[in-house]
Formats: sequence, C-alpha cells, structure tokens
Amino acid sequence: MPKTKKALKRARSTPKGRQVDPQALEDIQKLLESAPRRRDLLIEHLHKIQDRFGCLSAPHLVALAAEMKMAMAEVYEVATFYHHFDVVKDGDAPPAITVRVCDSIACEMAGSHQLLHQLPDLLGPGVRVLHAPCVGRCDTAPVAVVGQNPVPHANVEKVAALVHANALKHPRRDSTTPHPHLDVVTPGHIDYASYRAQGGYELARSLDGGAKTRDEIVAAMEDSGLRGLGGAGFPAGRKWKTVAAGPAPRLMAINIDEGEPGTFKDRYYLERDPHRFLEGALIAAWAVGIDEIYIYLRDEYHGCREILETEIAALRANPPYAIPAMHLRRGAGAYICGEESAMIESIEGKRGEPRLRPPYVAQVGLFGRPTLEHNMETLHWVREILEKGPGWFAGHGRHGRKGLRSFSVVGRAKKNNVHLAPAGITVAELIDEYCGGMLDGHVFYGYLPGGASGGILPASMSDIPLDFDTLNQYGCFIGSAAIVILSNHDTATQTARNLMKFFSAESCGQCTPCRVGTAKALTLMTQTSWDQPLLKELSQAMVDASICGLGQAAPNPALSVMKYFPQEIK
Ligand SMILES: Cc1cc2nc3c(=O)[nH]c(=O)nc-3n(C[C@H](O)[C@H](O)[C@H](O)COP(=O)(O)O)c2cc1C
Ligand code: SF4
Ligand code: FES
Repeated sequence: MPKTKKALKRARSTPKGRQVDPQALEDIQKLLESAPRRRDLLIEHLHKIQDRFGCLSAPHLVALAAEMKMAMAEVYEVATFYHHFDVVKDGDAPPAITVRVCDSIACEMAGSHQLLHQLPDLLGPGVRVLHAPCVGRCDTAPVAVVGQNPVPHANVEKVAALVHANALKHPRRDSTTPHPHLDVVTPGHIDYASYRAQGGYELARSLDGGAKTRDEIVAAMEDSGLRGLGGAGFPAGRKWKTVAAGPAPRLMAINIDEGEPGTFKDRYYLERDPHRFLEGALIAAWAVGIDEIYIYLRDEYHGCREILETEIAALRANPPYAIPAMHLRRGAGAYICGEESAMIESIEGKRGEPRLRPPYVAQVGLFGRPTLEHNMETLHWVREILEKGPGWFAGHGRHGRKGLRSFSVVGRAKKNNVHLAPAGITVAELIDEYCGGMLDGHVFYGYLPGGASGGILPASMSDIPLDFDTLNQYGCFIGSAAIVILSNHDTATQTARNLMKFFSAESCGQCTPCRVGTAKALTLMTQTSWDQPLLKELSQAMVDASICGLGQAAPNPALSVMKYFPQEIK
C-alpha cells in the first residue's frame, strides 16, 4: 500500500544509523570552536580529537560527521585509513602512552627487534608498544618515539626514563624535561629575523618588484639542470613552465612526507634552515603565478611542525611583500601520502589513494586546479641557484653527471648522516670520502642505492655513478638518494624481506596487483628456498598493473636478490 505524505515525513524524521550524542556534539563544538567545517579540513579536525581525547570514539565521529554535514561513512573511511588515528569501539580506549618502535630497514639492522621484544614487559600494561614504519631519523637508528617524543639511539633505559617522566612531546631547546639527545632532535634553526638579517627574502622581494621577468627565472631553473629531489627526478624548470601554462587559479603543494625508509634529508634541512625552502616556494609561486601554497608535513615530524608554525607566522606577520596564502597540513601516518596524487587527496581531506593519470597534477591537481607539486628539498635549492647562477649548480658533479645530491647515508658506514656530494659519485667514493669508511669489523657487502624502492646492488658493483637514470639498466634507481650500506653482518634476503613487509603494510589497497601481490610476495620470500619463477611472474604483474609507484617498485628488492645475490636463496 503506498505511504501517505504524512507517513513518509514521519519515517524521515528518524535518522538511520547512530544518533548524535549531545555530550559528544558539545565536545566537538567546543574543540573546533570557530574553525571552518570544510571537508578538506577533516583530517585536521580528526587530529584535534585524537590529540585531545587520545582516540576517535564512535560518538565523537558521529558528532563530527553531523557538525561537518558529512556522511558518517565518509568520516569513518578517512579516519580508518591513517595509522595515527585510533578508531575505537564504544567504551574502549588505548593506554595513555604509546611507544612506537621503528622496525624499518635501518632500525632493524640496528637491533629494533630487541627493543620491540623487551619494552612491553618492562613498561607494563599501561603503555602500548607498537612497531612503526620509518620515522625519518634513520641516521640515529634504532629509533623509538614516546608519544610524540623521538628517542634516537634508543635503548630500553632511555625509553623507560621518558615514559616515567611522562615526557610525551618533542622537546624544545629551552625544555626543562631532560632528554638524552636534545641537541640531536632539536638542533636549533635560523629563525625569521636571522634569515632576513642575512639577506633572506631579498631575492623573492626583488623579483616581485620586477627585477627580472618570469621567463628569465624559469630559463635559469632549466639551465641549472635541477631535477625534482622527491624521487622521480622530473626537471624543475620544465614543471614550472607546464603549470604556468595552465589556467588560473593555480596552486602549489609542497611534499614533506618523507616516508621512504632511509631518507631524512628534508627533516635535516627543515630543522636547520626552514626559510630557505619557503623563499624557494615564494619565488616559484611568483614565477608560475600561484595563488595559494599548501605544505604537507608528515605527522612524525612534530618538532618540524612547531618550527614551521612559528616561522610561517613570523613571515606572515611581517612579510617582505604581499605573499600568497600558505596552509600547513598535517599527515596522519601513511607512507603512500608521499606519492603526489595521494598527497593531494589527503590535503583535500580524503583517504590517501593515488589517482589514475592522466590527467597529471600539473594539469588537474589540488581541488581540480593546475598544481605545482614539489619535494621540499627541490625548493630548498632555488634561492642559491638563482643567486649564484645556474652554472653553479650544474658545475658540480662527477663521472659526467651534473648537480649536487643530498645523500641520506645509513647502515654500516662510520658516518650516518646527510652528505651533500656531487651527483654521480659512486658508493665506494661516498663511503671513503664522506663516511669515514666502513664500521670497524664490517666488510662492505652491498647497498641500497635508493631507499626501500630502488633495489639492492652487491659490493662488486660499487663503481656505478649514483644519479637519476644511471641505475635503471641494473633494475635500480636513486629515488630520494637514501643509501643503505650493508656489510658481512647482513644478508640481502633479510633486507628484501624487511622492505617487502614495509610495502605490504603501506599499500593503500586500492589495486589488486599491489595489495595481494605484496602480501603474496612476502609469504614466498619467507621460505628458505624461494620459488623464483613464481616470484618473477608475480613481480611482473605488479610492475605492469599497479596504479602507482609503490606497487610498481615493490618487487625491486626481490628481483635484485634473485639477480645479484643468488647464493643466498639456493
Ligand atoms: C610511493 C611513493 C612515495 C613517495 N614519497 C615521496 C615523499 O615522501 N616525498 C616526496 O617529495 N616525494 C615522494 N614521492 C614522489 C612524488 O610522487 C613526486 O614525484 C615528487 O614529490 C615531485 O616533486 P619533485 O619534482 O620536486 O621531486 C613518492 C612517490 C611514490 C610513488
Ligand atoms: S600500487 Fe599499491 S599503493 Fe599504489 S594505488 Fe595501487 S594499491 Fe595503492
Ligand atoms: S627511522 Fe628507522 S629506518 Fe628510518
């Protein structure tokens, strides 16, 4: 029997699903205050709830959905995508303190498994101990993070001391709570006043005042040969040209997600000289005609976030000229959000799932606008290149290559650090000239030339120039220039297993070859004797049919083992 209008109205007045709890709604309204309820701010708002209440409960998620006029399902699917959000069942709550222990490659090599084994019993049930992917401090492996407080060169005593002192925040330089490595985690930076006093922002201001034309600046960037330092190595000047040719308004998205195991160069520069990349961003914005700048910073970099919040506020308060709006956005624990289109989805407040291309983000990017997307370090070099001339940057290089590279070196060499060296240097030269040789008692066995994704090479191939393009013929790539040095204390198989475990955990799950392929490959690689034909077939499917670089590169370490370390898997 058809329902009357009155009956329909009655039916609609009872909403489906969970009802909004008045107390939870009041909590959310108080917490968000007058902040806009825009959809792209969803992840920012989820952080506020997580920070305040220690988790995301169902009543709070329902209240947030109501407040933001979004479907509960949309809020839930975003919240559950990111590792750092604790979505809990009614009445549940995680322990007040969480200790995350990095178990990615550099930390595993430095003994993080022992920490993961010992800490739960030592710290007791009131503390949750989780394993975590690379937290970007691989030079001081093994690393633990107590709440938001990083512990370089971690051992159980140091972690326990911070837990007992309830020292859960990244320490400031003037902190009264003792920290075993304050100078390491908070090295001190050039602030806005000092940067200006040293001539900072004069170049950006002079360009805005008409000192040079946009075409002249783009041409200088092209002449310098600067290539994107986030991994793909796309020529920076060419990218500026493409985006500038798109219709206004145009946006910029700066990538400081830095999740590739072994990589910490962006953090290194950001902790010391944050205005250098900001000035580079302003120059690029002027040259390309950018309306607004979005900066995406990984959640693990709490110290850097504080620096950026302070320094951007200082820049805004006393700008060198009328600068574009800048928005700082906080990641939430997802390696895939470093992939440029996934990052853009995340800035829009969504799950970090890579987009299908074309269209490219330079054409249709953030909020559907042409977007100049850059790694932070790429912008870090802009000022110096323009001040010293394009020939200065191109004038560096070795073995026929041009430019400078910031190598994050970790593993069994003596000096684990960011080493600024000529593009094209070989790993043997890097170890000898920059790292002080191998650690005592360690014999060079092999290396990862490009973090987790770039494959593994044996010591016998230590004379290949390290740069974009030079490693492709060996099934490897330089990526973000994270070099992991292996010794006779390591095996390539165990290294490859660690990397595949990482990819399997970090796959966004959107496409089957990557989601199922990484898990299946990991199972195959756990056997003492590898089923090589099957692994090769699986790898080919992942390379051919994955949507983004994670799935396409995930087989690289396994393929390297089969090609260069066959003695290990007989
Ligand atoms: C799985 C994956 C993770 C990535 N992670 C990062 C990252 O953390 N930081 C970054 O700058 N680029 C990362 N990239 C590369 C970006 O997609 C993009 O190429 C880069 O940010 C472009 O900036 P650039 O031209 O200045 O290098 C990643 C790519 C893939 C496929
Ligand atoms: S390749 Fe992996 S990470 Fe990339 S879109 Fe597919 S499932 Fe997601
Ligand atoms: S911090 Fe552990 S591998 Fe990077």
